[in-house]
Amino acid sequence: SKVNENKEYYEIMEEAHNYYKEEMFKNTARDALEYLSKRKINPKLIKENEIGYAPNEWTGLYDYLIKKGFEKKKIFDLGLAKENEKGIYDAFRNRIIFPIYSVSGKIIAFGGRSLEDSKDIPKYINSQETPIFSKGKNLYGFIQKGSNIKKKNYSILMEGYMDVLSSHSYGFDVALAPLGTALTEEQAHLLKKYTNNVILSFDMDEAGQKATERSILILKSAGFNIRVLLYKDAKDPDDYLKKYGKEAFLKVVKDSLEAFDYLYLRYSSEYSLEDHMSKQNFINRFKDFFQCLESDLERSLYIDKLGKSLNIELDVLKSILITNNKKRI
Ligand code: GTP
Ligand code: MN
Ligand code: MN
Ligand code: MN
Ligand code: MN
Repeated sequence: SKVNENKEYYEIMEEAHNYYKEEMFKNTARDALEYLSKRKINPKLIKENEIGYAPNEWTGLYDYLIKKGFEKKKIFDLGLAKENEKGIYDAFRNRIIFPIYSVSGKIIAFGGRSLEDSKDIPKYINSQETPIFSKGKNLYGFIQKGSNIKKKNYSILMEGYMDVLSSHSYGFDVALAPLGTALTEEQAHLLKKYTNNVILSFDMDEAGQKATERSILILKSAGFNIRVLLYKDAKDPDDYLKKYGKEAFLKVVKDSLEAFDYLYLRYSSEYSLEDHMSKQNFINRFKDFFQCLESDLERSLYIDKLGKSLNIELDVLKSILITNNKKRI
């Protein structure tokens, strides 16, 4: 049956995780430990987050799993090993391994970071879609941080594994990452069970800011209160925390902008607002956002703000921005 079949997939993933965790503390993992220590991920953090190491061997994991009695086909189904004309090889080699858990606490995927930044190999490899894993349904860190998020009643969303781990080591134990993809509706609904309040803290590059804009629409449609964290002179939260420390991060959390004000800032850098065409285009940029709003109060507050700052009558703005057919994101 499907349930029994999945049971074996979960067992294989758990054994694979055991293997990666054991490898982390062998002599052959010296470079990996050194890499993590350089990135301020200490042994305590490694243990707590069950980080592993895939050694620099062609079939280390594959041999281990076969010895445990698992079928080749199932190992391949999970994307843990692959085969080409030269033979079988492990998918993750010489990489730091981050386990990804399902909502019910089972290992369903891995993320693997290479130890060097080279143009020849991908920086991260993540598990492919498998019978037990589909992207966009889980959040990295959710299992460990769910109760903190509930208690503190907010979460901070970041792009990557390293951002989440660094945040944790600096005392921000409510950070999660949507993992590669932009935030999905499913991830928003998952988070909604724990809190209504989200701070978006993606990378400050254009890709990160585009993901922020997109995530705002998804989170607003799900009814969240959203703030956006902005910082200077750092690539991402991990980089920021290491350069400027905890107090500085607390300050940028405190100074984070409400989603509307963030969009206002972002869009006003795109338009001169000196002529009516430019004003019209600027206002149009808010259409999607307004269609995601659930609350009449919010709608009217933002219409008010726009009207005042652009010196435009509210009725005109309403007719552009408030339509009857609500958009579903
Ligand atoms: P570090 O360089 O280790 O700090 O990674 P980062 O998290 O800052 O990386 P980046 O901002 O480039 O990407 C954010 C997230 O996107 C990562 O944590 C990964 O989940 C994913 N990602 C980044 N690069 C790759 C890649 O080359 N391949 C895949 N599949 N995913 C990636
Ligand atoms: Mn990248
Ligand atoms: Mn990035
Ligand atoms: Mn980074
Ligand atoms: Mn980054």
